[in-house]
Amino acid sequence: MQTREFAMTEADFAAIARLALEHTGIVLAEHKKDMVYGRIARRIRARRLSSFTQYIDYLSRHLQDEISEFINALTTNLTSFYRESHHFDFLQRRWLPELLTQSTRKRLRVWSAGCSIGQEVYSIAMALKEGGIPHSWDCKLLATDLDSNVLETGRAARYPIAALENLPAGLEKRYFERINTKEVQVIPALRNMVFFKRLNLLGAWPMTGPFDAIFCRNVVIYFNKDTQRQLFDRMADMLPLGGHLFIGHSENLHGITGRFEPLGQTIYRKIH
Ligand SMILES: C[S@@+](CC[C@H](N)C(=O)[O-])C[C@H]1O[C@@H](n2cnc3c(N)ncnc32)[C@H](O)[C@@H]1O
Repeated sequence: MQTREFAMTEADFAAIARLALEHTGIVLAEHKKDMVYGRIARRIRARRLSSFTQYIDYLSRHLQDEISEFINALTTNLTSFYRESHHFDFLQRRWLPELLTQSTRKRLRVWSAGCSIGQEVYSIAMALKEGGIPHSWDCKLLATDLDSNVLETGRAARYPIAALENLPAGLEKRYFERINTKEVQVIPALRNMVFFKRLNLLGAWPMTGPFDAIFCRNVVIYFNKDTQRQLFDRMADMLPLGGHLFIGHSENLHGITGRFEPLGQTIYRKIH
């Protein structure tokens, strides 16, 4: 610690962890200290301060101006197209075909909660198109995140060509346009299906739902069990009976909520 640019005391770390929990639900355990140092040090430089103590004081006095930057610095936004690809196979080959047999259905709502830069929600859109969702259906995909920076990227829908590496064959050609030698952009037909909104999962949810499916993947790993329980109960309230919930590969609902039954591969269906 002594060789570091800024001093970070135990009390500083504890104060940052408390603020992170309060504003994001993210639990910052002891082993996250180096990560926290690196991320908050950038904010200290940006505000031309000289210690963590000063930064915490600054944050408490200028909460309105700095809280978004603080939050953006602490969130982990790792994502990719077709990440945990079995979920998109399930959507395309099992979920949508079943919905297509319901003759009265013309409406579809899916929520990507903790969407990061949008690669998850555009993967959902591609899977639905590949599965043959009719043009006549009213299909809307809501993508929400707490981090305001990632939402801008999601709306712009521009990604480096390297981000397409793991896409199943044929999808690049059908759903992306090259905009320069380094970047692609998602085609308007997919972009028009998606609505990005800033939303703290811990706060109020202005949307009424219901959603037919919710993706909340690799978000709750950063939360404690109580926060997870409240969150999944609220998500159950946003789904009809039989609605689907998709969670991340290292997450599970065991001992958290009994409102879903597991279908395997971190896919769940609401049972009450
Ligand atoms: C690791 S990314 C997962 C992205 C995507 N779901 C996936 O699996 O590829 C986690 C995302 O959750 C968001 N997040 C963390 N805490 C949140 C909260 N309280 N409310 C909303 N989003 C949150 C972060 O900003 C981040 O973009």
